[in-house]
Amino acid sequence: MPHSSGISEPLRATNGAAATVAPEAVPHPWALELQGVSKVYRRSDGGPLQTLRDLRLVVAEGEFVSVVGPSGCGKSTMLNLIAGRDAPTEGDIRIFGQASRATPGLVAHMPQRDLLLPWRNTLDNVILGPELRGVSRAAARRQALAYFHRFGLEGFERVYPNALSGGMRQRAALLRTILTERDVLLLDEPFGALDALTRSEMQAWLLSIWREFGKTVLFVTHDVEEAVFLSDRVYVLSRRPGTVKLELSIDLARPRAREVVASDRFVQAKRTLLQALLNESQGDGRPHTGIDAG
Ligand SMILES: Nc1ncnc2c1ncn2[C@@H]1O[C@H](COP(=O)(O)OP(=O)(O)OP(=O)(O)O)[C@@H](O)[C@H]1O
Ligand SMILES: [Mg+2]
Repeated sequence: MPHSSGISEPLRATNGAAATVAPEAVPHPWALELQGVSKVYRRSDGGPLQTLRDLRLVVAEGEFVSVVGPSGCGKSTMLNLIAGRDAPTEGDIRIFGQASRATPGLVAHMPQRDLLLPWRNTLDNVILGPELRGVSRAAARRQALAYFHRFGLEGFERVYPNALSGGMRQRAALLRTILTERDVLLLDEPFGALDALTRSEMQAWLLSIWREFGKTVLFVTHDVEEAVFLSDRVYVLSRRPGTVKLELSIDLARPRAREVVASDRFVQAKRTLLQALLNESQGDGRPHTGIDAG
C-alpha cells in the first residue's frame, strides 16, 4: 500500500544502521537514493557542460515523488542516470540499497517522448518488456490483453500508434512501462503533451493505477499543480546545473479528489513551489513579491 512518508525515519534507519549493523541487515533502505550526483557532458565545442551538481534525492518504497525544475536543468538526465542509460560523473545512485548499475532489473523508465514503435500495433508495443524477458509473444499478448480495459485501450489492440489519441498513446506507453514488472517507475513528463481535461483525467487515473500496483514512482513534470495533486513529496531543482533547491512534503489525505485543488493546503503548497521555481527562472535567488500563484 503506498504511503506518505517523511524522510527522517528511513534516513535514521540507514545512517544509524550503517555504523553498527552489516549492510545486508539494514531493514529499510530507500527504494531510490541519489547522493552527490553530478553529470558533466561535453559541448559540441569540446568544453564541459555541467548538467547536474551534487544532487541528493531519496524516494521511499511505495512513495510518489515528483521533480519540477526549469527546462534544461537536467531532469531527464537524472532519470537516464537512474535507469542506467548513462553513468554519473560523480556520486552514488542506489536502488533498494544496491548500486544502480548492478540492479538494472529494478527500474522501468518511461522517457519524455513515448517512443511507441510505429510499425507495431498497440498490443505488440506494450509487450516489449515481457518479450525482452524471454516470454513468448503469445503468452505476453495474453497477459497484456487483461489490462486493456483498465488502461482505456479496449478495442484498440490492433491499432497502430499513429491512429491513437495523445492520451491513448500515453496510456499505452504507461502500460508498457508497468508490464516491465519493475518496482520503481521513472516517468518523464508523461502528460506534457495533453490538453488540460485529458491531463486531469490521466492524473486521477495514474493515482488509481499507482494504488493498485503499489509501485514506487519518481515523476518529472513542469506542472506545479500536477506535482502537488499527485505527490507525497516534491523536489524543486535549480537552473542548470540542477541541484535540489527545495523539498516539500505534500500533506494531503489520499485518495485525493479533484476538489482538493481548491483547499488551503493545496494552494499553499502550490504557491511555495511556484515561488521557488520563479526564483530559479529569475536567477537571483531572492524572494519576489506580488506573484499570484493561487
Ligand atoms: N547526451 C547528451 N550529451 C550532451 N548534452 C546533453 C545530453 N543530454 C542532455 N544534455 C544537455 O544537458 C542539459 C539538460 O538536459 P535535460 O534533457 O536533462 O533537461 P530537462 O531538465 O529534462 O529539460 P526539459 O524540461 O526541457 O525536458 C541540456 O543542456 C542538454 O542539452
Ligand atoms: Mg526533460
